[in-house]
Amino acid sequence: MDNKVGVKILSTGSFVPRKVLTNFDLEKIVETSDEWISTRTGIKERRVLDKGQTTSDLAYNAAMNAIEKAKIAVESIDMIIVATISPDVPMPSTACYLQKKLKAYGAVAFDISAACSGFLYGVATAKAFIKSGMYKRILLVGVEALSRIIDWTDRNTCILFGDGAGAMIFEASDTENDIVSTYLGASGEHTDILNIPAGGASVPASEETIKKKLHCIKMVGKEVFKIAVLKMSLSLNKVQELVGLTDRDISLYIPHQANLRIIEAVAKKAGITKEKVYVNVHKYGNMSAATTIVALDEAYQEGRFKKGDLVELIAFGAGLTWGACILRINF
Ligand code: COA
Repeated sequence: MDNKVGVKILSTGSFVPRKVLTNFDLEKIVETSDEWISTRTGIKERRVLDKGQTTSDLAYNAAMNAIEKAKIAVESIDMIIVATISPDVPMPSTACYLQKKLKAYGAVAFDISAACSGFLYGVATAKAFIKSGMYKRILLVGVEALSRIIDWTDRNTCILFGDGAGAMIFEASDTENDIVSTYLGASGEHTDILNIPAGGASVPASEETIKKKLHCIKMVGKEVFKIAVLKMSLSLNKVQELVGLTDRDISLYIPHQANLRIIEAVAKKAGITKEKVYVNVHKYGNMSAATTIVALDEAYQEGRFKKGDLVELIAFGAGLTWGACILRINF
């Protein structure tokens, strides 16, 4: 599918809630320690939504940040895609709640559920819709309010996750092609090692499921760790091979920020120097669909790459899902 329509990236934006929850705060909630969390994950603190705030509020703030930077009118957006696994409610989509908050009534709106790979699935979806000629200006948001779907009595999971949102705006272009390469993968055979077991059609919410906290994230950490390293390494190389690029062409790698040990293992396997890998997991923990785009927005603000440089995003998440994309940052 390579017709003449290109995709220009107009801007990025991000937003994290003000409230900080440190490892020391967690020591008061579950039997854990700052030392254990720091050495096993690299996480020092994470952000948590205030009471009364919700997923679409985070999404709205990140979206407005990107819209203001792009200097576009909200009415000109013709598609809103929200990648999330912690929607405001199961139905309707968080994209529709975001549309209402933005008053972007000229847009179609829907959510993508691909967990931590959600933003990358969104980039590929936005590219396909623009290249097909169906839509011209797309707002993509990766957002999570994971603090609302965590079992705060389970030390295996509650130390890992955080809340936040990031946004990117794309538009059709005759001259630019900023989405240089995309690669996606999925394997449904591993649905049971990282999931939310209840609250859907197979196990509807009941007193029992609530008592057992089955509406919260469950994970077999060690298994997830191993497959994450494998699939992220595969994606990192594959997305370059697809367009004949190599490590020398990439200015900065932005891996999914789930665990510093995963990031370091992936970089080592690929032979990438530490300086080329962006890390902010110590500040935010794993924000699932929001991680790579929040990291990209922060790396941009910190001047970690120059205008026109190629940046590679790599992610992995529940499904299992994985993927990577190479973006030219030219704004
Ligand atoms: N604080 C203190 N001890 C903890 C703990 C915590 N928060 N969580 C688990 N432990 C304990 C375990 O109970 C276990 O004790 P035991 O040996 O007495 O049974 C011990 O620490 C080791 O646990 P283990 O699960 O083997 O640790 P690990 O080295 O595999 O690290 C993770 C656990 C979760 C940090 C790691 O597996 C991981 O990061 N996995 C990937 C998770 C992830 O990123 N998921 C999202 C992907 S998108």
